[in-house]
Amino acid sequence: MKTKRVAVVTEAGNGLGKTFANILLNHEYEVILAASKKSFENLSQEGGALHDYKLFKTDFTSLESLTELKSLITSKFGKLDLLINNAEIANGFGQKIEQIRIEDVKQVYETNLFAVIRIIQLFKPLLEKSDAPSIINMTSALGDIDKMTDENFCYANYCMTAYATSKAALNMFTHLQCKEFKPSKINIQNFDPVALKNCTHNSVSIKDGIKDDFIALIK
Ligand SMILES: NC(=O)c1ccc[n+]([C@@H]2O[C@H](COP(=O)([O-])OP(=O)(O)OC[C@H]3O[C@@H](n4cnc5c(N)ncnc54)[C@H](OP(=O)(O)O)[C@@H]3O)[C@@H](O)[C@H]2O)c1
Repeated sequence: MKTKRVAVVTEAGNGLGKTFANILLNHEYEVILAASKKSFENLSQEGGALHDYKLFKTDFTSLESLTELKSLITSKFGKLDLLINNAEIANGFGQKIEQIRIEDVKQVYETNLFAVIRIIQLFKPLLEKSDAPSIINMTSALGDIDKMTDENFCYANYCMTAYATSKAALNMFTHLQCKEFKPSKINIQNFDPVALKNCTHNSVSIKDGIKDDFIALIK
């Protein structure tokens, strides 16, 4: 019997993470939800619906907590096929330079960038046990310099300094890892889950075209 592919989704207690997790379940994945705080509480209360997932309380800003998650995956599955870095902090909308608090920026970077680097460093050996390992880093058009410098782009003037710069840094990190991982079998890419061609998107669901793109990535 073919063994199922194993996926970890960070923070899928609400928002798009949950949508990704459900798509994975429908595509024969074992889905591990690594969640903390409100997300974990929400998921813990879901009871029945959760039977299909494996839920682990994980603080992915903590090396200790991630190491615990890694041990659990190692003992239960012995490999990891897909890692989806989905958790985010998005704050600081419309702040002027005088209003930016460095502590807030650091907090955003801790989740949106440093946690991603940390989890990839730690889980690389587990991913290497897969026949076709893959990493998807959830990004945003707000961190895409080409889009943001195009005055016709509907969010060109949408200023969220901490969030946008953290996603821009994530984009470059993914690009550099892509080069490093190219000779190996680990596939790594960014994925923007929301089509921002106009400003009328629903931020808690992904549209069909985007959903198809996501499905193409996980196959
Ligand atoms: N929604 C959009 O319009 C949109 C557009 C473009 C890109 N994206 C990207 O898509 C991904 C999902 O977006 P979303 O809108 O679904 O996000 P969301 O609803 O804000 O969910 C993000 C999750 O991250 C968790 N989180 C935040 N700070 C954390 C921390 N310090 N430690 C641990 N967990 C933390 C939150 O958990 P708690 O609730 O427990 O705090 C939450 O469950 C993100 O990477 C985002 O950048 C979203």
